[in-house]
Amino acid sequence: MNIPPAYHGALDYAELERLGLAPEDVLDFSVNSHPFGPSPAVMRAVAATPLERYPDRQCLALRRALAKFHQLNIEQICVGSGTAELINHLARVYLKPGDVVLIIGPTFGEYERACRLAGAEVHFWQADAHDNFEIHFSEIEDCFNKIHPRLVFICNPNNPTGRFIPLNFLRSCIKSHPDICFAVDEAYLSFIPGQNTVFSQELHNVLVLRSMTKDYALAGLRLGYVLAHASLCLALTESLPPWNVNALAQAAGLAALHDPLYAQQWDLLPGFKNSLTAQLADMDLFVFPSTLHFFLVRVGCGVVFRRELLKQGIMVRDCASFGLPDCIRISTRLPVDNQRLLAAIQKVLINRDS
Ligand SMILES: Cc1ncc(COP(=O)(O)O)c(C=O)c1O
Repeated sequence: MNIPPAYHGALDYAELERLGLAPEDVLDFSVNSHPFGPSPAVMRAVAATPLERYPDRQCLALRRALAKFHQLNIEQICVGSGTAELINHLARVYLKPGDVVLIIGPTFGEYERACRLAGAEVHFWQADAHDNFEIHFSEIEDCFNKIHPRLVFICNPNNPTGRFIPLNFLRSCIKSHPDICFAVDEAYLSFIPGQNTVFSQELHNVLVLRSMTKDYALAGLRLGYVLAHASLCLALTESLPPWNVNALAQAAGLAALHDPLYAQQWDLLPGFKNSLTAQLADMDLFVFPSTLHFFLVRVGCGVVFRRELLKQGIMVRDCASFGLPDCIRISTRLPVDNQRLLAAIQKVLINRDS
């Protein structure tokens, strides 16, 4: 009861009710998932899924397709109802009270909450806005030597900063600390063209989290998975509740993996984002560099800025919960939506200055 829930982006239905807004009235730039919406093949697969039957408890077809996609064995894949379920489950299974965890921040709030719920002692190494959230590995090494963590959470590329640690570099860091388990959250890796995964058969101490929610715009269905060594995967799989991944999500994930055209749309996002960030810079707003389709913008008070945009039916993420109260996070959408966002921001800036 003393551990507060993590704060997240996305629509807060109670808040919308208070403001007299319907979810469909709001253009949401606060979630980081694929802005094109689900693929038509996914919609067809969902519509054809029988609802009266229990889903496959072992997610066999989906795990086989994921194994093929990553060139791994099915035993190295554990599927969950969103990556958030798997983060919480990992903490519950892997940690015991008093275990030490290191989180590389500022980052997704669910790691801390999950580890605290498991009774772990949580430490942070925090990147600094003053040097654009550069990651200083020598300082992180010092933390390893000082606190001896059992588990390290690294979000790569990171939410909310969009910083990316090159995979070879991260791999060699993981290799030189065989006593530490590294949980690498790759929820956004698909959004960097040409990147694979840090997971490798040779590394026994790394576990990777992936989000099909983000990759394929399935936020309402919830779908994520873990890549890990077979023994850790088995421990995770065996202790999940039965039927944790519903039949619609399994069918959607399978159809999404078989739709190569959809994946090509990821490549359009950097262009949309560059145009958006250039126009924000023209408004004299400071945009932090980011390798992803989402990015931080310094706006003064993020809570107030978000509220003013929401009055115009635009949702962005205020970043107070990341320890960045003067920032908002914006996730690129399609150009027509981005133009609406820019017009709304212009209005807030004019009202503020008048
Ligand atoms: C870094 C990161 N990991 C995991 C998640 C949760 O993903 P999912 O929707 O698959 O549970 C989020 C959602 O915002 C996220 O930002």
